[in-house]
Amino acid sequence: MKEQGEISEGSFTSAMTLALQGGENIPERYVLPSLQRPNLSLLGHPSISLPVIDLSSLNDPLLRSQAVDEIHAACNKLGFFQVINHGIPTSVMEDALDTAKEFFLLPSEEKMQFASANVREPVRYGTSMNHVMDKVFYWRDFIKHYANPISEWIHLWPSTPPTYKEKMGSYTKAVHILQKQLMGVVLESLGLNANYLHQDIEEGSQVMAVNYYPPCPKPDLALGMPSHSDYGTLTILNQSQQGLEIMDQDKKWHSVPFIQGALIVQLGDQLEVMSNGRYKSTIHRVTVNMERKRFSIASLHSLPIGKKVGPTPQLVNEQYPIAYREGSFGEFLDYISAKSLTEARYIDTLRIL
Ligand code: OGA
Ligand code: NI
Repeated sequence: MKEQGEISEGSFTSAMTLALQGGENIPERYVLPSLQRPNLSLLGHPSISLPVIDLSSLNDPLLRSQAVDEIHAACNKLGFFQVINHGIPTSVMEDALDTAKEFFLLPSEEKMQFASANVREPVRYGTSMNHVMDKVFYWRDFIKHYANPISEWIHLWPSTPPTYKEKMGSYTKAVHILQKQLMGVVLESLGLNANYLHQDIEEGSQVMAVNYYPPCPKPDLALGMPSHSDYGTLTILNQSQQGLEIMDQDKKWHSVPFIQGALIVQLGDQLEVMSNGRYKSTIHRVTVNMERKRFSIASLHSLPIGKKVGPTPQLVNEQYPIAYREGSFGEFLDYISAKSLTEARYIDTLRIL
């Protein structure tokens, strides 16, 4: 028998529940050490202009090479860019965020059916990063689900709200197509054949991380997500409002502006490894605010779960000696089952230089 108040692996208090309780403070376990606290004066004052790339240029023979160059520069410098004219209708993006919102507004019991601390669960509802492992908690609830091939997973996704599968499904399929196009361009920008690893990219893993950041009474003391990089090749992020920050090469944080209809693209650890360090995965985090709920959907792409990924042989030479050992999405999951992501980055365990 569990003592009353003891937290079992499958149950937790969501950030939403805490937010609904009101109050001017947050529980102690959400308060970050002072060095990790955000600098909220950055919000609304983007300090540099972050790249926005018009993907319609890729279809124009006169503009294409310039767009590839812009993507190369963005990947090289920040591992981050936003895309516009990417082919996914704004209505599809908004419908996915709307159905996500409806899911989070369901009563706790309904969402708790999906609660698990097992990072390999194909559908998983949780709070913070991992409510069993985290020392400090983050002001975020999430549902994550596997998504590619969609026919294999969609029946496991939430059945309430009734539109969830359809709306999230349309967005998921569209973003998978966009991911293939972007991977082709990113590989081309590395001097590789745009068809390189085509099959692995087509059959790669896609995890939808659907996030809810409730209003937080102490946004200066807490974060929605800690500083981290994503494990995969590309992450494509759809957000309802501003809140994401990225770190530049000088370790300075920049608030990412909200652009209606745009999608955010971030490089993950697998691309850093594949590029043998020419491109770096972006370190990012999420701030919270006092007034407004924020929703986001991160589509996390990687090569298939068991596929070993190392530096691409053509990108290893005397000037760029091999800098990483092989890893995989599966190994990453083992890593985060044993260690909190806030303690150390997975990619640091792959470095050999
Ligand atoms: C993630 C992530 C950012 C956001 O899910 O890995 O970084 O803005 N999300 O929610
Ligand atoms: Ni992330």
